[in-house]
Amino acid sequence: MNINEAHLITFSPTSTSKQVGEAIVRGTNCSKLTITDLTLQATEKIEIPQNALTIIAVPVYRGHVAPLALERMKEIRANGSPAVVVVVYGNRAYEKALIDLDTFASGLGFKVIAGGTFIGEHSYSSKKNPVAVGRPDADDLKYAEQFGEKIRTKITAAVNLENLYGVDVSRIQRPKQPFFPLFRFMRKVVKLRKSGIPSPRIPETDAELCTHCGYCVRHCPTGAILKGDECHTLAEKCIKCCACVKGCPEKARSYDTPFATLLADCFQRPKEARIII
Ligand SMILES: Cc1cc2nc3c(=O)[nH]c(=O)nc-3n(C[C@H](O)[C@H](O)[C@H](O)COP(=O)(O)O)c2cc1C
Ligand code: SF4
Ligand code: SF4
Repeated sequence: MNINEAHLITFSPTSTSKQVGEAIVRGTNCSKLTITDLTLQATEKIEIPQNALTIIAVPVYRGHVAPLALERMKEIRANGSPAVVVVVYGNRAYEKALIDLDTFASGLGFKVIAGGTFIGEHSYSSKKNPVAVGRPDADDLKYAEQFGEKIRTKITAAVNLENLYGVDVSRIQRPKQPFFPLFRFMRKVVKLRKSGIPSPRIPETDAELCTHCGYCVRHCPTGAILKGDECHTLAEKCIKCCACVKGCPEKARSYDTPFATLLADCFQRPKEARIII
């Protein structure tokens, strides 16, 4: 069978999931591409045509798919059309996220024909606490493109949609995780919790550096920063995605959580992307 239309659905505050999704789409070599970027707003009701291939690429938050990504995909419907589910995580672990996304996509009516777990620079990564800096790098993106090529081969080999088999994403191979850093991490997390030191609820803004350029207002997925009041963040709306921190041209915003120190210490060894097809 032949599919020439691809649909990329993404939620990606710091753009790593989007980059991976775009690379996969490039590899599929579909001539027509629609991008539904849910980072700043939810989509209205959309029906995905049966002869389109959908790639869903979203970040992992606390071992699950970022809740706002699922919330914003609620109005999408697919009538058995094929989908590729991809989660992007910050080199710690993706835990239940791929299974979450598979279940959610199936519930929307997609037939999941492939899955992937990729690494993106951790949202909390900073100069002081670097975690997976620069990921996805050129090798990750090349691998993502090759994944797209394999998806194309799988589709071409199928006689029709019924013949295009689904995958059990729970069988994907997990990346290697050395035991001692993980053990150290778990011990430190327990110690941190016992210490009662809270994680900051919002990023901090240095009023001396802020030029009120409005970048953070335009790029905050939840509207937690208001125009004219850029040094203040609405804690009840903030999801700590760090889009404002990473994008601020003046480096006026920072999110300095003790958790980032543990991540930088315990998850230095780069993990590899994994796919199932
Ligand atoms: C609130 C929050 C929770 C996160 N939880 C995890 C996690 O459980 N495991 C992990 O490896 N990375 C975690 N990350 C890091 C992101 O998954 C990672 O940086 C991802 O590349 C961000 O995607 P984006 O660039 O599309 O926003 C978390 C990030 C945030 C903001
Ligand atoms: S992006 Fe930075 S400099 Fe611009 S308004 Fe926001 S905090 Fe201020
Ligand atoms: S204010 Fe919060 S939700 Fe908005 S971009 Fe910054 S970290 Fe993300």
